[in-house]
Amino acid sequence: MSEEWIRIAAPATTSNIGAGFDTFGLAMSEPCDIIEGRKIDSGFLIREISGTGSENVPNDPKINSVTIAAEQVLKRCRADFGIEMRIKKGIRPCSGMGSSGASAAGGAFLANILCGEKLSPTEVILCAAHAEDVISGGLHADNVSPCILGGFTMIRSYEPFEVNRIEPPKDLGMVVALPDIMVATSDARKVLPAEVSVKDLVFHVGNASTLVYGMMRGDLGMISRSVKDAVFEPARTKLVPYLKEAKKEAVANGALVSFLGGSGPCIVSFYDAKTDLGGVIAEKVKAVYTDNRIKCQTWVTRPGAGCKRI
Ligand code: HSE
Repeated sequence: MSEEWIRIAAPATTSNIGAGFDTFGLAMSEPCDIIEGRKIDSGFLIREISGTGSENVPNDPKINSVTIAAEQVLKRCRADFGIEMRIKKGIRPCSGMGSSGASAAGGAFLANILCGEKLSPTEVILCAAHAEDVISGGLHADNVSPCILGGFTMIRSYEPFEVNRIEPPKDLGMVVALPDIMVATSDARKVLPAEVSVKDLVFHVGNASTLVYGMMRGDLGMISRSVKDAVFEPARTKLVPYLKEAKKEAVANGALVSFLGGSGPCIVSFYDAKTDLGGVIAEKVKAVYTDNRIKCQTWVTRPGAGCKRI
């Protein structure tokens, strides 16, 4: 069987966004993973893995998030073929930028196209979330949801699964800084408290609901005031050197708010994209790390679309 290759761009995402641990997610315009695949008679084959951090991505289909997610799709569709894949990582693993989520979502999205798009977007998300569960040791769909649907997503419930999407404001600018530090999501989940207080619960409900309202109204001030986390980011601060200094520097240079992206170590800052402050914020946050002899990569980006065929 010699089939045509198809090619998918799967975007980076940020999750949690303050009070929305494991529920909120936001797709970015860049960077993205590129997943290519074509039908083969049976089984899964990873022909090539390249790009940033690819040396840490396993090429065994049983433990690679692209193929685990794609296999779920083929099972649900009762497909009678396999898939050969090529993976180009644009999102470094262990970054907090939804690297494994993008690979999983890209793999599931691609497999669904090969199956004639039999599955709904929610089913594709569930297949990708299964891969996240296997890889990171916890069922969380807050990266794969925006990676499939684009924009800002909120998971109301995991069982039964319900996710909804809002188009974020057009002038919501994002600066993402990724220091050269590796934090595996599985490790970042081990430092979390098992219980939260009623006081913190009240604080999170208030901020989470107001953040959603801010997204709906397109109100950057309301969004930024509501990116607050009393529980998860504080527990993870010890895993990310200079996090407090980097956030402070971002805000001192015009960011509306700055926070730990997902499980870290990336630092995400929101700013008003009607200004040209993105480049300055990126430079200043980067300098916090380079001044301490830690390399740091930055992106000045915006919310973006979900997986697409390119
Ligand atoms: N919500 C997950 C966590 C996302 O914070 O552990 C990981 O990127």
